Amino acid sequence: MQARRWNQRREMVAWAPANRRYHPGNSPSGTLEKRYLMVTLRDWQRLITGDAADPSRFASPASDEETNPMISNGMAARISAQINRELYSAYFYLGLSAQAETMNLKGTAAWFMAKHNEEMTHAMKMYRYLIDQDAPIALTQIAAPPAETDGVLRMFERTLSHEREVTAAINDLVDHALSEKDHATNIFLQWFVTEQIEEEATVNDILGRLRLFGDQGQGLLMIDNELAAVAKQMGQTAATRSSVAM
Ligand SMILES: [Fe+2]
Ligand SMILES: [Fe+2]
Repeated sequence: MQARRWNQRREMVAWAPANRRYHPGNSPSGTLEKRYLMVTLRDWQRLITGDAADPSRFASPASDEETNPMISNGMAARISAQINRELYSAYFYLGLSAQAETMNLKGTAAWFMAKHNEEMTHAMKMYRYLIDQDAPIALTQIAAPPAETDGVLRMFERTLSHEREVTAAINDLVDHALSEKDHATNIFLQWFVTEQIEEEATVNDILGRLRLFGDQGQGLLMIDNELAAVAKQMGQTAATRSSVAM
């Protein structure tokens, strides 16, 4: 935030009339504009190099708008809450992966583990967005996932209802961004809107196959093998994405 303030001041100084004198900090109750009257040569040097002996002398009584015009505290808090939901999703899938392992369903376990990894990247995407926006991040406790031991069909039904809840939460975030005319956050969230459509469709497809071929015996074995192949593909896609990002 300090860096942003400095950048703002550099911009203000850039259009300050050259025939006026600059007295930083002379007007504690005044606006930024009132303060930028003229810059001495020494102050110019300090501002440009960032080598101020006492940067706090430039500090002003900061309103939210002044320190962070990019995102409101309310919007940032809502995204922080969504980070928690994404981390919970990761935890939720980790629990299901562990459950599938105990059932000896290696493909299903690998698929849930791939989902766990995906959810972690969602949380980190939001985390990075807030950092880039100079916004505060409020990390809170992550709830434990349900410790149910049920069949594969039920595991995927729970997955679908969980993803639907996440979709509703993402849509609420978009609604809020639009209500604040926060275009950057709205654009950022569009990726998650699309991702949720894909996630729900994938789970729906798996559920359909489980209902068609059965969640036991040969039918289950076939689906478990399919999920192993999908999980491998998801892992490769994730690796490609991260290498492109680097
Ligand atoms: Fe997610
Ligand atoms: Fe998800």
